[in-house]
Amino acid sequence: MVKIAVLGAGGGVGAPLSLLLRLSPLVDDLALYDRHRAPGVAVDLSHIPGARNVHGYTAADAGLARALRDADIVLVVAGAGATPAVTSREALFEANARVVRDLAGEYARVCPRAMMLVVTNPVNAIVPFVAELLKGYGVFDAGRLFGVTTLDVVRAETFLAEAERYVKVGERRVDVVGGHSPQTTVPLLSQARPAARVGGGVLEGVVNRIRFGGREVVNAKERSGAATLSTAYATFRFTEAVCEALRGQEGGVQCAYVHLRGIEGGDEMAEAVGVEYFAVPVELAGHGAGRVVKSLGTISSNEQTLIDMAITALRENIQTGVDAARDYLSHEKVI
Ligand code: LMR
Repeated sequence: MVKIAVLGAGGGVGAPLSLLLRLSPLVDDLALYDRHRAPGVAVDLSHIPGARNVHGYTAADAGLARALRDADIVLVVAGAGATPAVTSREALFEANARVVRDLAGEYARVCPRAMMLVVTNPVNAIVPFVAELLKGYGVFDAGRLFGVTTLDVVRAETFLAEAERYVKVGERRVDVVGGHSPQTTVPLLSQARPAARVGGGVLEGVVNRIRFGGREVVNAKERSGAATLSTAYATFRFTEAVCEALRGQEGGVQCAYVHLRGIEGGDEMAEAVGVEYFAVPVELAGHGAGRVVKSLGTISSNEQTLIDMAITALRENIQTGVDAARDYLSHEKVI
């Protein structure tokens, strides 16, 4: 039995994500929570075949706690996306941290052993923010907290295949490391397997397109919203991999933004990159991130430059999240 709670299920990412989860044979129970609309989405989905149970909750009648009860996976997709007013991930932090903070508090109280998958942007700062809160509540487990960066991997696969008109999407593995923002997303196309069949300027163009993929969507939507459907698809893909691990099919490898220390292999990686949080390939196990798969290996000099830039930006993003959580905890009664 796998129960998934989707927090933010009424939103632009949450609703299509809930549809995909409803269709997945790996999901048994689906609990949809949002301040508005989640019960409507749940009833809508209940008219199509799929997961055994789908229920919708709002804040009324302790809805959040009821959605979280017995959850194995908690998906955090609540909060605002990039809008014309707040296009940078940093500017999103304040608004979204306020939303996520309450969700994390209830997670700590109701289902602290569940896997928490954070999609809410800016992932680079929100994940350290949540980690620090969970440390404060005494329930932090590095292996159970993931920042979902699969959209960068999906973009890498798709854009590379498109540029070379050769390898079908899904037939190769491309790792994307660092974080989730134009300054921190580092596609390691030099290590794509099978190898990329384009090089030079074409490859550089693909790298830029991946890094600025979010902006491409915002512009195409005439600045009225950010990527929602591709975010839902990518999150679904990562969630299914976690479901497979929970069901005993361990060993699947996915890139995710994690707190390195506390995961096997994470100390070495943290020392290599000089930051505590980094998106890396991790091997999934029934208890979460089983191990950080490898060192970053032999990468090109362009990729090394991007990694160095990413580390500088990440340091600041991580500090933003950690400081905000400590500030909050020092003024709040710990659960
Ligand atoms: C993206 O990369 O497009 C998503 O994370 C959505 C966003 O807010 O940018």
